[in-house]
Amino acid sequence: MKSLWSTALAGLVVTGWLLSSNPAQQSVKPALTPPMGWNSWNHFNKQIDDATVRAQADAMVASGMRDAGYVYVNIDDTWEGERDAQGFIRANSKFPDMKALASYVHSKGLKLGIYSSPGPKTCAKYEGSYGHEEQDAHTYAEWGIDYLKYDLCGLREMMKETPSPEAARNIMLDAYTKMHNALLKTGRPMVYSLCQYGNDAVWKWGDSVGGNLWRTTGDISDKYSRMAEIGFSQAGLANYAGPGHWNDPDMLEVGNGGMNAEEYRTHMSLWAILAAPLLAGNDLTKMTPETVSLLTNRNVIAIDQDPAGIQGDRVSAEGPTEVWARPLADGSKAVGLFNRHPQPMEVRVDLRELGFSGPMQVRDVWSGNSLGTIQGEYQTRVPGHGVILLRVSK
Ligand code: GLA
Repeated sequence: MKSLWSTALAGLVVTGWLLSSNPAQQSVKPALTPPMGWNSWNHFNKQIDDATVRAQADAMVASGMRDAGYVYVNIDDTWEGERDAQGFIRANSKFPDMKALASYVHSKGLKLGIYSSPGPKTCAKYEGSYGHEEQDAHTYAEWGIDYLKYDLCGLREMMKETPSPEAARNIMLDAYTKMHNALLKTGRPMVYSLCQYGNDAVWKWGDSVGGNLWRTTGDISDKYSRMAEIGFSQAGLANYAGPGHWNDPDMLEVGNGGMNAEEYRTHMSLWAILAAPLLAGNDLTKMTPETVSLLTNRNVIAIDQDPAGIQGDRVSAEGPTEVWARPLADGSKAVGLFNRHPQPMEVRVDLRELGFSGPMQVRDVWSGNSLGTIQGEYQTRVPGHGVILLRVSK
């Protein structure tokens, strides 16, 4: 089944925005490039409130992140309060006025995201949207919400009670479709982020239930081993991503302190090659200059946000070293030479394997420096757990 957003591809293309061919639901398709922004969960976990979100929005502007392309300020789990007598959700006391918060975030040129579950309860056991999908979508639109992360959690209990895996899968797909339709009905464009940890090969059906992005794995943590396990497991998924529908290997840990600069550079480089959403997960009010430069490198962001929206993939692997490449709109390629070993290693790439014959211009993406003209094989020393990220062009 094709989603309304997919149907919209047959609609008008106006100044780079896609409009639905159905006038009743004529709205801009969100996420033509992978969403960029910030999310509260990785750093603040359950300790998130109105003042903290405002401070993050302020810092997103002051640090230059907004100007580098970060736009969504996303509240994750634990904002939810009780429902009123009519069944409408209210925020809990940590968020006294969600509409005012949205206005504040919008006044900074940013957008506000929120979180819920298709089940009766969220992962942190707060109120989910089960049975209240249209009411919740209506409330989000009224508040001025621009992005919804919809996290399976509570629905899993109901899926377990079904007679077969097929029945469980149908419950899940129906639940995701239901909220997609409810969001469409509001007429307010909201990015729709599916979170069900990559089960049932979500990349094959995430688009058909209206997802703009879908988590492809379980939760990331602020450790090189977990980040690498997730990032390097994305090989083979490139065909499922494209403008408006992205694979999501989870939010960034850059700046949270559990990895060194080389490892965070690997995190950013790999996510850029994967056309992954760039949702910072650190405290933006307490960033070192190094963290800011890791998050805002324009050359790296340009790869992530490349307008062709073609996800990269693994080209080769030899022991702990891997070469990944991503085709870009101007005919060049981003090429990542990764070393998963803790000690420095030599990594080799044959540009002919990437489809490049003849002399090529090669640039180091992080430094922006030209490495001159290279033909055929290229070999370089890559730091432990590090990467050399190249842009190769004619
Ligand atoms: C799940 C998700 C996380 C986060 C928490 C919140 O674990 O995968 O990203 O949203 O729930 O409870």
